[in-house]
Amino acid sequence: MSFASRSAQALRTASRRAPRSVANVATKSQRASYSLLARTVSAVPSKATAVQQQTRGVKTLDFAGTKEVVYERSDWPLAKLQDYFKNDTLALIGYGSQGHGQGLNARDNGLNVIIGVREGGESWKQAQEDGWVPGETLFSIEEAIKRGTIVMNLLSDAAQSQTWSKVAPLITKGKTLYFSHGFSVVYKNDTHVIPPKDVDVILVAPKGSGRTVRTLFKEGRGINSSIAVWQDVTGKAKEKAVAIGVGIGSGYMYETTFEKEVYSDLYGERGVLMGAIQGLFLAQYKVLRANGHSPSEAFNETVEEATQSLYPLIGQYGMDYMYNACSTTARRGALDWAPIFEKTNIPVFEKLYESVKNGTETRKSLEYNSRSTYREDLARELKEIDDQEIWRAGKVVRSLRPDIQQ
Ligand SMILES: NC(=O)c1ccc[n+]([C@@H]2O[C@H](COP(=O)([O-])OP(=O)(O)OC[C@H]3O[C@@H](n4cnc5c(N)ncnc54)[C@H](OP(=O)(O)O)[C@@H]3O)[C@@H](O)[C@H]2O)c1
Repeated sequence: MSFASRSAQALRTASRRAPRSVANVATKSQRASYSLLARTVSAVPSKATAVQQQTRGVKTLDFAGTKEVVYERSDWPLAKLQDYFKNDTLALIGYGSQGHGQGLNARDNGLNVIIGVREGGESWKQAQEDGWVPGETLFSIEEAIKRGTIVMNLLSDAAQSQTWSKVAPLITKGKTLYFSHGFSVVYKNDTHVIPPKDVDVILVAPKGSGRTVRTLFKEGRGINSSIAVWQDVTGKAKEKAVAIGVGIGSGYMYETTFEKEVYSDLYGERGVLMGAIQGLFLAQYKVLRANGHSPSEAFNETVEEATQSLYPLIGQYGMDYMYNACSTTARRGALDWAPIFEKTNIPVFEKLYESVKNGTETRKSLEYNSRSTYREDLARELKEIDDQEIWRAGKVVRSLRPDIQQ
């Protein structure tokens, strides 16, 4: 039996032994209401661990020895949420990945949402396809800001900087300014985004793509988000951030600052979330190929087994569980090599963190994403990845999955 099939078998065994996930337990009718879903969570049979013994809600939880405050959706039943925002109009500026996910979720939660994008652009078309109606719920950026009480700036980070001179005068006293990234205000020397002094400035940053914000919500689950306050004029800024976080589909939220949010986010996506993972996959694949392994073998041993068999185990039950689910041979080798990868990579991660903190990453991003050709340039670079042998081989491997073959 190959390592892959042993791992697959371990996954099946794991599924039998382990507690069912929240998504698996929620029935269709439960998915319609997140307060119902929250009740379902406490009914899930669980491992007797300290984590699961802690009570749910707004409170301080012990995260591996460090106490942190968390906010949960269960404290905001839909009726309370709708009542809280009954006099508000959420003007969501930009309809890219986050605009789509957050806007549709907030609308489905019964909040009064309007969209502001440039007329005739790609986002305008997409918003119309999603049922936003020109003149009723879909407006130019300027018009939407004028109509909104809570202005959710979900333009691309580069566009937030480019448009700020037009946006700023419209953010008048009494409105709330919302971001999903600390980028614009933290790197103000580069972006020139300096919020007016007389408005609350808050942040809800979903820890995932806007597409996931939407799909998790539709499944009755919720994305994890961080919340932060940059400016609290009303004394209600944090409460508002938590409430909007729930409105846009968050499951639980943890507190951060704008600075920490942007540092960790830029760092994480350049690191294991995206940059490092492509770099590591490619490095491993190339060495296998250089040693005469076929594309099929190299891809299976690098990507397919990781994403289809082992990484889901880490996600559901943790690293030790995944190790335990593999052969003794695999375990021994992984235990020996993990510290070598850690030691080798720490200097790279330190360099990356510094590059984030000193604004180098921000300036590169602003320069690149402010080009009028940013969509075409990005498409070209992504095509280059798509054309790499590893990912071309991957398409064939994926096409051979029995569930795709019917
Ligand atoms: N994507 C994520 O995974 C993620 C996760 C968490 C937080 N965030 C944060 O959420 C915010 C939105 O991110 P996103 O990924 O949703 O952005 P995005 O997909 O890049 O959104 C682009 C939006 O900006 C508009 N836009 C671009 N250039 C413009 C310009 N010069 N003038 C006016 N509009 C312009 C686009 O409109 P057109 O179609 O008209 O070009 C589109 O509506 C950012 O602060 C981001 O850091 C993103």
